[in-house]
Amino acid sequence: MINQDTLEKLRKEAFAAVDNAKDEKDLEEVRIRYLGRKGELTQILKSIATLPPELKPVIGRLANQLKKDLEASLKQALKEIKRQGEEKLVDIDLSLPGRPYPLGKLHPISQIMEEICAIFLRMGFSIAKGPEVELDYYNFEALNIPQDHPARDMQATFYIAPGIVLRTHTSPIQIRAMETMRPPLRIIAPGKVYRCDSDVTHTPMFHQIEGLLVDRKVSFADLKGLLTVFAQETFGSQTRVRFRPSYFPFTEPSVEMDISCVICGGKGCRVCGDTGWLEILGAGMVHPNVFRAVGYTPTEWTGLAFGLGVERIAMLKFGIDDIRLFYENHLKFLEQF
Ligand code: DAH
Repeated sequence: MINQDTLEKLRKEAFAAVDNAKDEKDLEEVRIRYLGRKGELTQILKSIATLPPELKPVIGRLANQLKKDLEASLKQALKEIKRQGEEKLVDIDLSLPGRPYPLGKLHPISQIMEEICAIFLRMGFSIAKGPEVELDYYNFEALNIPQDHPARDMQATFYIAPGIVLRTHTSPIQIRAMETMRPPLRIIAPGKVYRCDSDVTHTPMFHQIEGLLVDRKVSFADLKGLLTVFAQETFGSQTRVRFRPSYFPFTEPSVEMDISCVICGGKGCRVCGDTGWLEILGAGMVHPNVFRAVGYTPTEWTGLAFGLGVERIAMLKFGIDDIRLFYENHLKFLEQF
């Protein structure tokens, strides 16, 4: 038989269950257990009708009060659990350092190209451009390399179609620049070039920077001075240079410039093949036939020109012994620059 003690016990049990509930699911279980359709308190409330008349009002009042209290307690507990959940969501430690955001950077070849171009821009040169798919005329013919000239064999050319090649050097940009500008002019032309060649120091695509200066009374001394400044700005003021006679169809006289070895300083080592010198570019005084091809009068205008390989300079500067590293895109390699 239900009495006051039964209700008192039930109250204690039910409130303890509410206190122990850890989440919404636990609370719902407590509700069902006591207040559900077959819940313990629900059963008691149903059975009140069967109690002796003298007990009905007392037990009825207590049971109804317990139902009200339990409902209120469940509601309050649910509110508290929700609030704690929200608090957890904003539980952020504002003193933690931010997530590092990896920054991309220029490819080492681009860095060197920008650096070299900047040296010449400071000396009054401006940037010129030309197409990578080039006419035979600009790549060879106008540069004083006619069809049957043996110098065509110096560069293993990729032919695209009759009369069209992938440019083998940046020198055709000299012709395109002179066709569109009147002298005096000073241009620097960076770009990709292509040759059928591949080993530790050659890739089929590589980069060159071409330079051309045309004015009245340009001398070989101007060429030497300009290139000495370039070498010392690029490799350091202690760098010495030397010029060796060479041959290019588009310059006369032609030279190759060497710098004192960046590794041994000139004493002789593996990198310079014990000579103490490293070849870094070709240059010369613009050939009169090149001026004729663009309609400049060779008796009025004089010029100096040079062409250098960017990969070679980057390899010497950074101490890299395999050119292919530049084009394999390994982040561990690229991140070092
Ligand atoms: N075009 C030459 C090469 O690719 C390099 C060169 C030599 C460019 C002498 C020049 C120059 O402008 O005057 O081998």
